[in-house]
Amino acid sequence: MALKLALFVFLMISAVAAPLAGAQSGLISGLLGLIRINGTVFCSIDANIGANGAVFPNALVQLQCGGGNAVSSTTTNGAGVFSMLLDPLQFLLSSLLTDCNLVVNTPLSTCNAKLPALGVLRSPLQLIGNTILGGLLRVANVVPTGFLFAPTT
Ligand SMILES: *[C@@H]1O[C@H](CO)[C@@H](O)[C@H](O)[C@H]1NC(C)=O
Repeated sequence: MALKLALFVFLMISAVAAPLAGAQSGLISGLLGLIRINGTVFCSIDANIGANGAVFPNALVQLQCGGGNAVSSTTTNGAGVFSMLLDPLQFLLSSLLTDCNLVVNTPLSTCNAKLPALGVLRSPLQLIGNTILGGLLRVANVVPTGFLFAPTT
């Protein structure tokens, strides 16, 4: 009798614990999936690489989604490089790639007086891969497809 009870308890625990373990690891990978956007802004209207490879330092880079709402922003460093980390609870990777653009709001004339003072550089986003850190933290690496000048209308 005692043996039957022990077996019953053992089976119950296994039945309850197995799906729980699965749910927990699913929860962890969901919670720790970060989205990182990085890239270089060049001092140029029509290509990624400007004349002489000139970069655009101290440029305000905004992530705009839907109807042009700025949902995150950062500034390029002295080498024109920027990076932003998104809260994975607020962004779905799929909608980020279809609904959002990076927009450089600092006028191009700031980095080169011969370039327009009105209008912005704009780029859609693409996923280039995932980085797994420590076997647990998943980072989706997202980069601009290429900044193009969009005149103010
Ligand atoms: C952006 O991140 C990717 C992946 O980590 C890296 O290979 C690339 O060099 C970075 N780009 C810049 C401009 O920092």
